Amino acid sequence: MLKAKNLNIYYGRKIAIKNASFTITPGEIVGLIGPNGAGKTTIMKTLLGLTKFTGSITFDGQKITASSHRVLAKVGALIENPAIYPFLSGKENLALYSQDKDDLNQLVNRLGMASYIDRPAKSYSIGMKQKLGIALALLNHPELVILDEPMNGLDVEATILIRKIIHDYAANGTAFLISSHVLSELQKVMTSVIILNHQEIVMDVPIDKFKSIRATHYRLKTVNNERTRELFSTNDLPFEYQEDAFIIEIQDIGQAEQLLYQHQILLTELSPVRKTFEQAIVNVLEKKREAE
Ligand SMILES: Nc1ncnc2c1ncn2[C@@H]1O[C@H](COP(=O)(O)OP(=O)(O)O)[C@@H](O)[C@H]1O
Ligand SMILES: [Mg+2]
Repeated sequence: MLKAKNLNIYYGRKIAIKNASFTITPGEIVGLIGPNGAGKTTIMKTLLGLTKFTGSITFDGQKITASSHRVLAKVGALIENPAIYPFLSGKENLALYSQDKDDLNQLVNRLGMASYIDRPAKSYSIGMKQKLGIALALLNHPELVILDEPMNGLDVEATILIRKIIHDYAANGTAFLISSHVLSELQKVMTSVIILNHQEIVMDVPIDKFKSIRATHYRLKTVNNERTRELFSTNDLPFEYQEDAFIIEIQDIGQAEQLLYQHQILLTELSPVRKTFEQAIVNVLEKKREAE
């Protein structure tokens, strides 16, 4: 459905993404994971024809360029902050893009927005705006839905609801590309994962590879291990320190990532400790090399 090949994306002279290739197939839920500044938003904007790039992107066989209006009709997107007209109600915002009233009303109900959908959008909380942005992306049942950090500002209940809706749409063939700086946030929903680091895709594998491994610990490195050690200690997060890396139990990884994110300490490595997983990565990389 979507094929990106050898993408290089620049801002002026600075390279934002180096030589990225990936595909997205119908019904697939692809997690795009990477620390802040890794280039997640940049990739998403590029898929919408909003940046200059070299390489090729095709969607249903059509080339995506800087003016891909025909393709865009089949793609729904929420990038950074949702584009919402503050003086219109939520419903009026949706109606601007909706092609089907029933679809619109169904979405409003499913997202639990009915009680406030007729109020002006400027009165909405961050979570409500985020939900409205997600509704805008899901309108008209697109073939591909691009969601940039969709769980931002959502409470646990809303997160679970969104996850369920994503699953349902995917079961009907809609593909998703969803970004997050927290791996664990998307673990429950994605069917494959692309990990971005230092402007490059460092891993691109189906999620069942992760699931079959059942690692018990993760190995974690950051740009500042001293500060990280202090941070984990003061927050009573259990860890061992081996060979310049933290070894953390799998159930503590979500909290560790949150802490690092809150204190803006970048992750440089996060990998399951079990050998089988490393073997899986090695296999993926070897296959890639053979294909090149
Ligand atoms: N409009 C822009 N002009 C110049 N540099 C940019 C612009 N947008 C993003 N960047 C830079 O590109 C890199 C990737 O940014 P971004 O795609 O927003 O990362 P992410 O979404 O993963 O946090 C960062 O170094 C960021 O500073
Ligand atoms: Mg971003």
